[in-house]
Amino acid sequence: MVTQEEKIMAGIHVVDHPLVQHKISLMRDKMTGVKEFRELTSETAMLICYEATRDLPMKEITIETHQGIAKTKVISGRKLAFVPILRAGLGLVDGVTSLIPAAKIGHIGIFCEPGTHDAVKYYSKMPDDIAEREVIVVDAMLATGTSAIAAIKDLKEMGVKSIKFLCILACPEGRDALLAAHPDVDIYCGGVDESLNEKGYIVPGLGDAGDRIFGTK
Ligand code: URA
Repeated sequence: MVTQEEKIMAGIHVVDHPLVQHKISLMRDKMTGVKEFRELTSETAMLICYEATRDLPMKEITIETHQGIAKTKVISGRKLAFVPILRAGLGLVDGVTSLIPAAKIGHIGIFCEPGTHDAVKYYSKMPDDIAEREVIVVDAMLATGTSAIAAIKDLKEMGVKSIKFLCILACPEGRDALLAAHPDVDIYCGGVDESLNEKGYIVPGLGDAGDRIFGTK
C-alpha cells in the first residue's frame, strides 16, 4: 500500500541544484534590492522550469547534416502554456519563457476573501486552445495553496488535461493542500520551508514576493 508520505514525495520535486539553492539564499536576504530580487526570481524560475520539463515527450526525426543523414530527437506532443497567478507569478514569466519562447501565456488573478479565506477570481484570460496544451501554472510562493488550488480547478474546468505547478518556495501546508486537492498535479519548487505563520507568510521564506518583485513597499 502507498502511504500518504510516499504520495507526497512522488508529487513534489525539489530542485536542489546548487545554482537554485544559491540564488534562493540571495533572495532570502532582506537587504537584496528590487532589481536583484527580480533578476533572481526570473533566473531561479528558469532553472526550476528546466527540471519541470525534463519529461517532455520526444520523437525521432531524420535530418541531413553536413556529415550525412542522422537520426535525432525533437520535442513532440502537446504545446505548452504558462499560467502565472497574478501578481507575483508574473515575476517568473521571463525566466520560463526564456527556455520555451513559443509557449503561450494565460493569466489568472485570484485573491483570498479576508475572513472566509475563499478564493475569488477577479481576472482570467487564456489562449483559445488552452485545453489542448500542457499547462504549467507559475507563482512565486506556495503558501496556503488557496490560489493555486483555485487556479488549477479553473483550468481543469476549461478542459486542460495536463497541469504542473511551479514555484520558487513552498511550505508543508501549501504542498499538502495542493496535492490533496489535485493529486494529479506535480509540484516543482526550489525548496519546502519550515512552516506558514499566522499572517500567511512562509517561514523563513522570501517575505512578500510580489512586493519585492515590483518594489511596492
Ligand atoms: N506570498 C508571499 O509573497 N510570501 C509568502 O511568504 C507567502 C505568500
